[in-house]
Amino acid sequence: MSTDLTTAELLGALEDPALNSMNFLNEVANHYPDAIQLAAGRPCEEFFDLEDLHRYLRIFCRYLSEELGYSEERIRRTIFQYGRTKGIIHELVATNLQLDEGIAVDPESIVVTAGCQEAMFLILRALRADERDVLLAVSPTYVGLTGAARLVDLPVRPVASGEQGIDLDDLVAAIRQVRAAGRRPRACYVMPDFANPSGLSMDVPTGRHLLEVARDEDILLLEDNPYGLFYGDTERLPTLKALDEWRRVVYLGSFAKSVLPGARIGYAVADQRVAAADGSVGLLADQLSKIKSMLTVNTAPIAQAVVGGKLLEHNCSLAKANMREREVYTRNMRRIVAGLAERFPPAADGSAEVTWTVPAGGFFVVVNVPFVVDDALLQRSARDYGVLWTPMRHFYDDGRAAVRALRLSCSTVTAEQIDTGIDRLAALINHQLGRV
Ligand SMILES: Cc1ncc(COP(=O)(O)O)c(C=O)c1O
Repeated sequence: MSTDLTTAELLGALEDPALNSMNFLNEVANHYPDAIQLAAGRPCEEFFDLEDLHRYLRIFCRYLSEELGYSEERIRRTIFQYGRTKGIIHELVATNLQLDEGIAVDPESIVVTAGCQEAMFLILRALRADERDVLLAVSPTYVGLTGAARLVDLPVRPVASGEQGIDLDDLVAAIRQVRAAGRRPRACYVMPDFANPSGLSMDVPTGRHLLEVARDEDILLLEDNPYGLFYGDTERLPTLKALDEWRRVVYLGSFAKSVLPGARIGYAVADQRVAAADGSVGLLADQLSKIKSMLTVNTAPIAQAVVGGKLLEHNCSLAKANMREREVYTRNMRRIVAGLAERFPPAADGSAEVTWTVPAGGFFVVVNVPFVVDDALLQRSARDYGVLWTPMRHFYDDGRAAVRALRLSCSTVTAEQIDTGIDRLAALINHQLGRV
């Protein structure tokens, strides 16, 4: 076939596996639509109702009229027109953060974005001043973060996750190593609540130590929290941002799991003070807003209105609004873990070839196996066994070739699908182990 371009003439990162991950995983899922979906980190669909969208829009417009005193013309313009770069639901997001997360911030420090993914891109782009800059990220990490870092040419240095979601000794060692190499560690990306993919959570003492390290070592923390509301049967722990006395945390939020992913609404809270060349001082959010104005201009006001309407309908607390979803995820998570325990009992001497995590909440369970889990095995699993999952290899950015683990998601399956899916996975694993 004759070609018009080569990838060598395009962005170098386009040859990077991180940029292919999401499309590859979507393609496998699309190719095998009947396979049981234990891969996708999508929210459950059983409570979606088209009528909700219309009601949310009406509620938001009523709020503009009755609470904010907007004229009809101004309401039409707000919804139909280009709008404020930092968004139109920032006040509601600030109230939501106060109620659900104990985070008190000036609404001006919030940038409403096209999904959390855009928020990640904005902050990484802003922090990548020149080729000396390096991002640290707890490993394994969300591939969307790694991919966004590639787009802005920001190298990612992995940090071990330990048992508490971050190994602080490794973090300090990584910071020092980066500095010793003449480079600048700018921030560390963390998911303190039910991380994707590890399912690990950070306890409060670790969170406080992490904030101290960030202050002492002069780095920022990028806290990504899409799963915090799905806290299983446990007590909710405070977010890092709620504990942040020194404005070290840039908080990245998503309404994809707590409202709906189709709206593509997320946000960044960036209340750090930035001194400009002319001596004026402003918010980091305003610098992110400049980048956003050249990327997506502003976040779709129609989508913001839908999310705003849901927030208003629930007095700005999504914790209560997501009780049903939390119950579904908790039940499903328990069923997956019990299903694995039933199918892979330990040997008589207590040893086990197959092990798994038991997260307190979130969407994800990691299964460790004694063989390499790669994309070819996923393809075979989808084709021959009818079950989809995610090879953990996609979440490691340290060039390791052999990862012996896979991620299961509990979010979009029924109890029956879990049982069948785990049966099928067990058949695949047993085949790999030469047991059948
Ligand atoms: C850890 C993490 N961050 C960010 C996102 C992306 O969020 P959004 O859909 O709001 O862009 C996801 C989506 O699955 C995620 O798991």
